[in-house]
Parts: sequence; C-alpha cells; structure tokens
Amino acid sequence: MEAHLYEWANLLIRWLHITVGIAWIGASFYFNWLENQLERHGDKPDGVEGTLWAIHGGGFYHLQKFQVAPARLPERLHWFKWEAYYTWISGILLLAVVYYLNARTNLIDPSVADLSPLTASLIGLATLALSWLVYDGLCRSPLGRKPVALAAVLFALLVLLAWGLSQVFSGRGAYIHVGAAIGTCMVANVFFVIIPGQRAMVEAMKAGREPDGARGRAGALRSRHNNYLTLPVLFIMISNHFPSTYGSGWNWLILTALALAGIVIRHYFNRRHLPGRHWGLMALGLAGLASIILATAPRAPDRQASADTPPVTLEAVNAVVEQRCAACHAAAPSFAGFTAPPKGVRLDSEAAIRQHRDQIGQVAVRTRIMPPGNLTGMTDDERALLERWLNQPADPP
Ligand code: HEC
Repeated sequence: MEAHLYEWANLLIRWLHITVGIAWIGASFYFNWLENQLERHGDKPDGVEGTLWAIHGGGFYHLQKFQVAPARLPERLHWFKWEAYYTWISGILLLAVVYYLNARTNLIDPSVADLSPLTASLIGLATLALSWLVYDGLCRSPLGRKPVALAAVLFALLVLLAWGLSQVFSGRGAYIHVGAAIGTCMVANVFFVIIPGQRAMVEAMKAGREPDGARGRAGALRSRHNNYLTLPVLFIMISNHFPSTYGSGWNWLILTALALAGIVIRHYFNRRHLPGRHWGLMALGLAGLASIILATAPRAPDRQASADTPPVTLEAVNAVVEQRCAACHAAAPSFAGFTAPPKGVRLDSEAAIRQHRDQIGQVAVRTRIMPPGNLTGMTDDERALLERWLNQPADPP
C-alpha cells in the first residue's frame, strides 16, 4: 500500500512540476523572443521602444514595449512569478518523495559513501541553500560588475559542485542535486531580486520618482543567468532516463560538458536575430555534443580474452540475475516497497534475460546503476561474468 501511494505521489507531483515548469520556462522563452523580434524602427507612439504584430489561436495581437514605462500605470498589470514559485515548490516535494523518502534506492550508493538516509537528505538540502548563498554573494560582490568573469567563476563552481556531489551521492542523486541547486538559484533570483526590483520600480513611478537604475541592472543580470541556465537544467531534469550519463565514472564531467554545450546553444538562440552570422555558435554547440557522444562510447570488447575462457551459459547468467535482480524485476516483486516490476522490466526467466540482454549490459556492466545502491549486494565477479556473457555471441533462442 505504501509503495502504491508513493508511486501516485510521484506521478501527481511530477505531473504538476512539469506543467508549471513549462509555464515558467515557456513564458521566459516567449519574453526573450518578444525582446528579440520587437520592431524598433518605423512609426511608433512616443515613449515606445518597439512594437510587434502576431497571430495566434485565430486572433491578431499588437504589442508595445515602452522605453521606460507608460506615462500612467495601467489598472491591471500582469506579473509572472507564480509559475517559478510553483515549479520550485513542486520540485522540492518531488525531491523529497523520490530521493529523500527512498534514499537507499535513489540517493545513496554505499560504494561512493555509506550515508544514512537522514544524513544524505540533510546534505542534499544544505547543498541547495549553500549554492544560493554563494551564488547570490558573488553576484552582489564587486565581481558582479564583470559579467564575463562572474560567469567563468560560476561555471567553475558548477564543475566543483558536480564533482563534489559525485563523491557523496549515487550518480542519479548527484545529478538531481546539481539540477535542484541551479533551479533553486533561478527561482530565488525571481523571488529575491527580479520581482522586488520590479516592485520598487512600480512604487517609484507611483511616487513620481526616477526608478533606481542599480536595481534594474541587478535584475537584468539575474535574468540573463536564468536564460543561460534553462537548457542545462532541463537536461539534468531528464537525465535520470539516461544511465550512460549519470552512471558513468566520469558523470560529473559529462554533466558539465553537456551543460556547457547547452549554454553555447542557448547563446546562439539569443544572438540569432542580431546582425551578422551566428551559426558558428550552433555548430560549436553541436560539435560539443558530438564529442561527448564519442567520448562516452563503449570500448570494444576484448575478444581474445573471451576466446580463451569457456562460454558463459544462460543458466549461469540466470542464477546471478535471479539472486541480484529478480527480487524487484519480477511480475510480483518480493523486494519490500515494490509492487510492480520497475520500468516494466521483468528479469525472472531465461527468455526475459535474453530479451533484455543489451539493457542488462547497460545498467549492470557498462554503468553500475543496478541494483540501485547495490541493495542486493552484487559482486564484481558477478558483473565480470555478465560482461563475458555480453561479449560472446547472443544465446540461441
Ligand atoms: C531494489 C530493487 C531493484 C533491483 C534489485 C534491481 N533493480 Fe533494476 N530497477 C529498479 C528501479 C527502481 C528501476 C527504475 C529506475 C528509474 O526510476 O529510472 C530499475 C530500472 C531498471 C532497468 C530499466 C532502466 C531504464 O531506465 O530503462 C533495467 C534494465 C534494470 N533495472 C535492470 C536491472 C538489473 C540487470 C538488475 C540486477 C543486476 C536490477 N535491475 C536490479 C530496481 C531494482
């Protein structure tokens, strides 16, 4: 019953998280697009920086952007903030359900660090708070006035964070905490800097004062960071479907390389409308992705070594899988907390093992993400046996 409720909590919160996340990032992409496509030349009313016509959903829209602000504040002014706040709230709940309440399965890897679920969860939460404090402190420091130097320092810190977490958590756990730390900084930017800045601007207008330029600049810097961080954060959020990223021994490097490629590609989209050619940026981003694909490719098996040893029988493989995997991956799992085979993967017969041969290689040999947290105590010898089996020709049906 408990596992059943966890699964539903996971599903419903994830559904909410993705929905509000789309609303947040979608609005942010839309305003970036508006900014880039605004027609700044030609006829336009006084005080207006640019206008834009659009058609959507069967209607025509005509938008104006003001240089500073309209002469009179409108009665209804729409703000964009709850999308961001709800994304963070649902994200923290999801983190708790998937990683903190199921820490032994998803967060802790005893071969990395044998933490208790409580310690691991506290380290996770502390990481989020600390990331924001350090990031915010740097933005407010004199370095904050040198955007490029600041970006370089922040990226170096991101590499350090990814590496540090990979020394404490399972690959999956490390990845999600890098993502949650970035996401926390992005939402905190909205909550602590961007929205208060806008509020001060509105207050100043109401009082007939000049808005404070410094606050506007601070908000613009944080907005720019959020813009560049969208692709890295979205990759991390889907990364748990891709064991060859977080399950690799170089997982922290793969994460930061993918983040960098994402930032370069985002840069291309920010630049594309400006005069000049920018496709070189896109080419650079794609070349980065291609090099990551090459660098992570599996090594060719050592055919000679496997030729010298007798072939591994499917029976021998079955004996290992039955002991180490089938407690969870069976029609009716016997492992506590599981009510159905995870991801629908059943490994409870020789036929099923033959069918999932490649996947088994991926999760138990190339990466070692299964069994999760090595809960069933799989040995290196057993993995070596599976590896020899994978390197020999497929078993006859
Ligand atoms: C303690 C329970 C447990 C044990 C034991 C276990 N698994 Fe899993 N397995 C899981 C869970 C949970 C998932 C889903 C992970 C996720 O959320 O992506 C999973 C997912 C998988 C997947 C699907 C991966 C994907 O993303 O499509 C494969 C394949 C797999 N396991 C193989 C194995 C093999 C092989 C073993 C034995 C070496 C094993 N598992 C042992 C719990 C277990």
